[in-house]
Amino acid sequence: MMYQPTDGFRWTARLQSLEDYQLLYRRSIEKPEEFWGEMAQALTWFHPPDTILDADLDLADFSWFGGGRLNACYNAVDRHVKTRPGKPAIIWAKNEPGEYEIITWRDLKHNVGRVANVLKAHGVRKGDRVCIYLPMVPELAYTMLACARIGAVHSVVFAGFSAGSLRERILDSGARVLVTANEGPRGAKRVQTKAITDEAVEGLSQVQSVLVVRRTETHVPMQAGRDWWLDQEMSKHRGTCPVEWMAAEDPLFILYTSGSTGKPKGVMHTTGGYLVYAVTTHRYVFDLQPDDVHFGTADMGCITGHTYVLYAPLTNGTTTVLFESLPTYPDAGRLWQVVDDLKATVLFTVPTALRVLIREGDAYVKKSSRKSLRLLASAGEPINPEVWRWYHDVVGEGRCPVVDNWWQTETGGVLIAPLPGAIPCKPGSATLPFFGIEPVLVDDEGRVLEANGASGNLCIARTWPGQARTVWGNHQHFIDTYYSRFPRLYFTGDGCRRDEDGYYWITGRVDDVLNVSGIRLGTAELESALVAHDAVAESAVVGFPHEIKGTGVCAFVTLKPEYQDTSPEQMEGALKKQVRHVIGPIATPDQVRIVSGLPKTPSGTILRRMLRKIASGETQDLGDTSTLAEPTVLDELLKQQLQMESRR
Ligand code: PRX
Repeated sequence: MMYQPTDGFRWTARLQSLEDYQLLYRRSIEKPEEFWGEMAQALTWFHPPDTILDADLDLADFSWFGGGRLNACYNAVDRHVKTRPGKPAIIWAKNEPGEYEIITWRDLKHNVGRVANVLKAHGVRKGDRVCIYLPMVPELAYTMLACARIGAVHSVVFAGFSAGSLRERILDSGARVLVTANEGPRGAKRVQTKAITDEAVEGLSQVQSVLVVRRTETHVPMQAGRDWWLDQEMSKHRGTCPVEWMAAEDPLFILYTSGSTGKPKGVMHTTGGYLVYAVTTHRYVFDLQPDDVHFGTADMGCITGHTYVLYAPLTNGTTTVLFESLPTYPDAGRLWQVVDDLKATVLFTVPTALRVLIREGDAYVKKSSRKSLRLLASAGEPINPEVWRWYHDVVGEGRCPVVDNWWQTETGGVLIAPLPGAIPCKPGSATLPFFGIEPVLVDDEGRVLEANGASGNLCIARTWPGQARTVWGNHQHFIDTYYSRFPRLYFTGDGCRRDEDGYYWITGRVDDVLNVSGIRLGTAELESALVAHDAVAESAVVGFPHEIKGTGVCAFVTLKPEYQDTSPEQMEGALKKQVRHVIGPIATPDQVRIVSGLPKTPSGTILRRMLRKIASGETQDLGDTSTLAEPTVLDELLKQQLQMESRR
């Protein structure tokens, strides 16, 4: 069924018909330089760009807005202080319900300036990396913007990652300054961010200063000469700090994300292209209106936090909500309460959160008003059609368009989404491409599938301003990951179907990346975390459909001979703890299956496809099993699966 934009919504929308969209889309494809040159004018440039695009697809080398100079912090903060000093820039929704703090643009500039001066006093210079390991507190926004102000490159690490993951990212980025908090309240728990940081930087001479936000009254050990309370440091400095005018292609930030091979990679985004793409997508995809209050629940450790909680709303002069808590804390009514308290107009969340809330029933939603809402957005993972309809019918009472937007850390901003006043929706489809984006479906042999009604690997032809330019310190890795499978095409790693109407339906990852509750995890990373345990000989990790998380983690493990007698329950517990410790709680496997062997070909390749089917309970159709080196291995796996099913 098609859901047409309602007349009420269309009335004030920026684009009001499919023709409006098609006209602009065609122009963006036929005259990209003219189109993006115009879009770039939404920013304030110290020096306007001389050229719009210079690209070499063979070398995966892209440059947007060459010759242009600008500063992201100036665009997000300073220019609004002149026109709307008293308007709330950020509303901080603290962990406890009903507790809010308003930060106006004037306050924001003052605090960002002071943090910028603190960073400088700790030796941070243009081009240096600063690692940020913070809960969702205002100082997180101040520090990111302060980095942008002085030309430093921020690398935010999600405060749910372990000490080991944090250390790996600090080492890779070469950061010498780290910003953390004494602890971070999150729901009923308190994340021990400082203790985790201490473990991460233990013996690491690279890290010279650790700045600590005093989020709670709890005292934490401070190492003299290395650790500094940020509030005390800020009190020593003024709120004025000159901005560093950056070249458009200068890096703005690095954000680590998981891929199908090796360690997480630092995806690098630039100042000009990223910001132009962020503000343009924000304007059209969320149908920006002057009095919007944008409430995105994403953590700043994800690209959604960077683009649609921080940079795009602030640069467009929109009030943004910084949400410290969880959708289920203290109960399933939390999001609706925040919406009502702050009169939020746009709500942007992930399908996993919606699935959890649906389970709690409609009563929590219905006791709130939600009258301020005019648009509902979802991203990060496929949204099941029934969840889409619940969002639309129950949360939005049929008034608000649901904008299911598809994109990635690497894309900087939304690539496929319904522009809400213009594009009719089909629940479960992200619909049509954004301006300047040319999706291409390719089969496994690299043949382009031209016709509608086809499924294949989703690629993007040509470049767009928000595209990541490289993997930090390793451009070859960038080429290998995104441009080697299908020459001259950006390979997304996602599978996709294009239906008869040309609508895109993302079917999920086709590589060895699992999307667990909207967070990307590489199976290779999970496997190395497991084999790092003394008892583990070999492991293979696969995903399986999970009612709440979208994808669950299932680990098949063989043990070393000296551990064969350990009870399976004890071993399962120990291995779950192991992954939690090495990567972080989000990565904890849902299932650990101890087996005596893994299904392999005679040359030793693990047949993951087979394991995926077994973990998903699709035991009737395992495909070709004749290549198995040891057929008895399969019997054991199937027997174990049947036992699990009968226990359910
Ligand atoms: O598999 C796709 C899924 O999330 C992946 C990107 O994750 P990340 O880099 O963390 O960026 C998240 C930005 C929203 C994609 O490769 N994904 C993201 N959005 C959607 C989605 N899958 C289906 N529908 C979406 N709307």
